[in-house]
Amino acid sequence: MDELPKPYVISNVGMSLDGKLATVENDSRISGENDLKRVHQIRKDVDGIMVGIGTILKDDPRLTVHKIDAKMEDNPIRIVVDSNLRIPLNARVLNKDAKTIIATTLKDTPDKIAKINKLKEMGNVDVVRTGTEKVNLKELMEILYKKGIKKILLEGGGTLNWGMFKENLVDEVSVYVAPKIFGGMGAPTYVDGEGFKTVDECVKLELKKYYPLDDGIVLEFKVKNTR
Ligand SMILES: NC(=O)c1ccc[n+]([C@@H]2O[C@H](COP(=O)([O-])OP(=O)(O)OC[C@H]3O[C@@H](n4cnc5c(N)ncnc54)[C@H](OP(=O)(O)O)[C@@H]3O)[C@@H](O)[C@H]2O)c1
Repeated sequence: MDELPKPYVISNVGMSLDGKLATVENDSRISGENDLKRVHQIRKDVDGIMVGIGTILKDDPRLTVHKIDAKMEDNPIRIVVDSNLRIPLNARVLNKDAKTIIATTLKDTPDKIAKINKLKEMGNVDVVRTGTEKVNLKELMEILYKKGIKKILLEGGGTLNWGMFKENLVDEVSVYVAPKIFGGMGAPTYVDGEGFKTVDECVKLELKKYYPLDDGIVLEFKVKNTR
């Protein structure tokens, strides 16, 4: 059966040379000013910015365009992948600066239904549902495409990145590598999750561009075996 169209997905992170997204104590100050501007320029060019609930709970990001010259209309739709609706109602990603889609599972509890209603009452928040234990990312992509979201910036963290790479849903990779070593088995890496068992199964990339920025380097790749 033909697969339904999905948005074009760009995965972007800032990481230390040893592939960490933050230190063991969740200090994620990796990028310099120019790299932040680069990321905000990509944000301005996409229809949606997607993160996992882990990133919301740890960093409480706004996920808007604000490091460069931009207007409120330039803010893409924010998408949070959150199977059990753990998102706090005062999370900054729910502010009125942009629309937000919370992607959750079909599993219902009375608390969850009540929270969905509260989220919808906010006016700028939509809740979409797919999957049972975890959000079904393939179906989510198709739902988002149907809503007019044709290009997504995936901003992590490592667990959601794994989910997206595992399902072959990423088309392009753009990373800033800082000349820093964080170390630490517990520190989040660019792609966490279970990992591929063999090199044959892994995601293969083709280097397209690289350039120095701030005191690090930006690397851009096309994903070879994307859907
Ligand atoms: N340096 C950077 O560029 C950068 C960018 C982003 C984040 N970070 C860092 O990354 C860390 C957070 O990463 P994280 O791995 O803890 O969290 P995450 O990847 O942001 O979120 C992961 C969560 O998403 C939910 N999820 C739902 N369906 C999923 C699916 N099909 N596949 C994968 N995940 C699914 C799961 O929670 P439920 O089961 O509850 O749904 C899962 O635990 C923080 O330290 C943050 O600072 C750094």
